[in-house]
Amino acid sequence: MCWQKRDFFLSIILLFVAGNTGAKLAGGHEGSSGTKLELIHRHDLLRNPRNGVHPVPTFQRMKQMFHHDTIRYRALSSRPRMKHGGRISSARRQVQENTGYYQACTNGSGIRAGEMPMYSGADDGTGQYFVHLKVGTPPQKVTLIADTGSELTWTKCNYMCEGAQCGRNLRDRRVFRADDSSTFKTVPCSSSMCKIELANLFSLAQCPSPMDPCAYDYRYLDGSSTVGVFANETVTFSLTNGKKTRLENVLVGCSGSSRGQSFQAADGIIGLGYSNHSFAVKAAKEFGGKFSYCLVDHLSPKNVSSYLIFGSYHETDISPTELQYTELVLGVISPFYAVNMKGISIGGILLGIPNEVWNVNGVGGVIVDSGSSLTFLTQPAYQPVVDALKPSLSSFRTSNQDFAPLEYCFNSTGFDESLVPRLVFHFTDGARFEPPVKSYVIDAATGVKCLGFVNATWPGTSVLGNIMQQNHFWEFDIAKARLGFASSSCSS
Ligand SMILES: *[C@@H]1O[C@H](CO)[C@@H](O)[C@H](O)[C@H]1NC(C)=O
Ligand SMILES: *[C@@H]1O[C@H](CO)[C@@H](O)[C@H](O)[C@H]1NC(C)=O
Ligand SMILES: *[C@@H]1O[C@H](CO)[C@@H](O)[C@H](O)[C@H]1NC(C)=O
Ligand SMILES: *[C@@H]1O[C@H](CO)[C@@H](O)[C@H](O)[C@H]1NC(C)=O
Ligand SMILES: *[C@@H]1O[C@H](CO)[C@@H](O)[C@H](O)[C@H]1NC(C)=O
Ligand SMILES: *[C@@H]1O[C@H](CO)[C@@H](O)[C@H](O)[C@H]1NC(C)=O
Repeated sequence: MCWQKRDFFLSIILLFVAGNTGAKLAGGHEGSSGTKLELIHRHDLLRNPRNGVHPVPTFQRMKQMFHHDTIRYRALSSRPRMKHGGRISSARRQVQENTGYYQACTNGSGIRAGEMPMYSGADDGTGQYFVHLKVGTPPQKVTLIADTGSELTWTKCNYMCEGAQCGRNLRDRRVFRADDSSTFKTVPCSSSMCKIELANLFSLAQCPSPMDPCAYDYRYLDGSSTVGVFANETVTFSLTNGKKTRLENVLVGCSGSSRGQSFQAADGIIGLGYSNHSFAVKAAKEFGGKFSYCLVDHLSPKNVSSYLIFGSYHETDISPTELQYTELVLGVISPFYAVNMKGISIGGILLGIPNEVWNVNGVGGVIVDSGSSLTFLTQPAYQPVVDALKPSLSSFRTSNQDFAPLEYCFNSTGFDESLVPRLVFHFTDGARFEPPVKSYVIDAATGVKCLGFVNATWPGTSVLGNIMQQNHFWEFDIAKARLGFASSSCSS
């Protein structure tokens, strides 16, 4: 029972999970109000509070983002795929059985396992946008990374901990104090929720006594590990009509410490992926079956901000008639949101890209991912896109700085967006996504722009990243399995 008096540590939950969730969503608050949360870009959170300006130059910020994206993509592309829905049994479960958390219990210094650096882990399953969320009763504010590639919502957390045993965590002002919340209910390890449903989220099999919390342990390939307990908690929202509402029994991971760049500014992750226990699916059930977001250019002034909405978006400048819709393919490249694309045109000419590249049910497919900044195209799509765009840029001197994984960068003195032909993503059901030029000829440093596509190995998944998504409103309608989008300034 020693774990009851210990601060739990865990950092990242890697979500290899899957599952045809096929959840049926009722329209809880449909037609009434929704809730709108500000989405804050990572770089805004890291702004120097003293002088209010970015402490890091564009070049370095972009390098960090590119690095993060590369790692994320690697993890994403090594994920197993679902053919027809079913569950993936978690292959790693057996390695967890005799390690981690319980070892930490029997070895007083075992807590060091949680202090291992988690470079790869910290960058995995995380994203670039943050939200403030009110968790517990009374509500405590936590700042979480909004990630459409994560299933579990977790926060840095103190649970059943006293005095010196909480040491390190108590120094972190923003840690969630589970002991102060009257609605924090750990999931019992004897429950079928722990034993069956959460097996996909790496719950542990050990269960010394039936009401002990359901613990989980994830080990990264680099030897680091994450440990924590699952709990149900209440989340409080301010509705767009000014009232407040509470969402009960939201699954959260309670984590005691974390390592890695992503968590300098954030307290954890809000899981917006598609799976039975993700926050997005739970909140969508309550608010009309959908969530949406609008991303401004992350380099734009502070007076416009991105936002995340659950439910109705009456209060925004978006009217439903402006939205184009395409089918949302759920549960195949789980927990990501996939779409059926059929091609890319540049300057009105459809490029010769083999159909397999777009086939979600084969070895290709495209996902819309809030957690990646860049857009990844598998090689048979990358090559023609770059070939079609390069001629318009041939008069600019190529940059000799290294912006890997971006390959084509140039000195943008004298650059004018009208020189670049318009790129359009075409969906099989007729929808067309036409991003602004600045979303694919992107700023990489002062005076340097790059073609914002990454060459990804084939076969593999292509990714529409958040730079490509910017200045658009995106509606993830889970209940109707469709993705709506419209161009927007995101200004209201
Ligand atoms: C998700 O929920 C549905 C319905 O409740 C269930 O049939 C399915 O097995 C669940 N999936 C997982 C991965 O637990
Ligand atoms: C406890 O774990 C630490 C680090 O893993 C190890 O160095 C130490 O020998 C262990 N102590 C005991 C009593 O097993
Ligand atoms: C946690 O919430 C789920 C519903 O999301 C519920 O089925 C389960 O019984 C709850 N468990 C506890 C311990 O409250
Ligand atoms: C933001 O501020 C700039 C000036 O700093 C102004 O031109 C612009 O209209 C403002 N945008 C909004 C949406 O208020
Ligand atoms: C781009 O080229 C101009 C001259 O054509 C030069 O003055 C400027 O320093 C160059 N910028 C970069 C970032 O290399
Ligand atoms: C893209 O990567 C593949 C290897 O994965 C390579 O063969 C190809 O030449 C690359 N294409 C470009 C344009 O760099």
